[in-house]
Amino acid sequence: AKRINIAIDGPAGAGKSTVARNVARRFGYLYIDTGAMYRTVTLAALRHGIDVRDEARLEKLVAELDIGLEPGDPVQHVYLNGEDVTEAIRSREVTQSVSAVAAAEAVRLRLAELQRDLAAGKGVVMDGRDIGSHVLPSAELKVFLTASVEQRALRRYKEIGDRQGIPLETLEREIAERDRMDEQRKISPLVRAEDAVLLDSTRLSIDEVVDIIANFGRTKL
Ligand code: C5P
Repeated sequence: AKRINIAIDGPAGAGKSTVARNVARRFGYLYIDTGAMYRTVTLAALRHGIDVRDEARLEKLVAELDIGLEPGDPVQHVYLNGEDVTEAIRSREVTQSVSAVAAAEAVRLRLAELQRDLAAGKGVVMDGRDIGSHVLPSAELKVFLTASVEQRALRRYKEIGDRQGIPLETLEREIAERDRMDEQRKISPLVRAEDAVLLDSTRLSIDEVVDIIANFGRTKL
């Protein structure tokens, strides 16, 4: 059977990872979370005490790092020089610094290369910010998944905010700031590819979004 690549991009908290994981399951494909890779570089930078705006040091760091992705369902594991950092990359500290690290050209060049290698054999569902527009411009299906910032903050709040004691307004502000940085960076910013399907999930359930994408996907097989 023909195998395709599916790119799912969009702003923070739009539900990309849950949706992408479920779409991958439907097709029997590999789900690859590219945000996890940017988070891993960010974790390494923080541990080394590197200023996240110091591009020269980030360039050196990313050249020396060994990032391992082990696709898995329900959890993709990520390794930093052999250490399982799957949990560590979800910290608040990493979340607050990742967009600055992701703006560095050397970081983007290296991670995009890894991502293209992972997708070379087809049969992947990859989520991120620049997958359809930059990393996999010839992906057979591209989706740009959005939702209102209020809705995205609320979802994130239900996921972590409640437990970690972070107020809803704080989450909303942080999400809006991360979007702004991702949209405004010079190298491969967050943007909808011209040929991406625009899907607003504000009033849709996860299952409805997954169904819509899976139906589009089937038309490409
Ligand atoms: O998807 P997630 O929210 O974990 O991504 C974390 C950050 O990594 C994003 O806010 C963005 O700065 C960066 N990123 C990126 N390009 C991608 C995926 C993530 O710049 N393809």
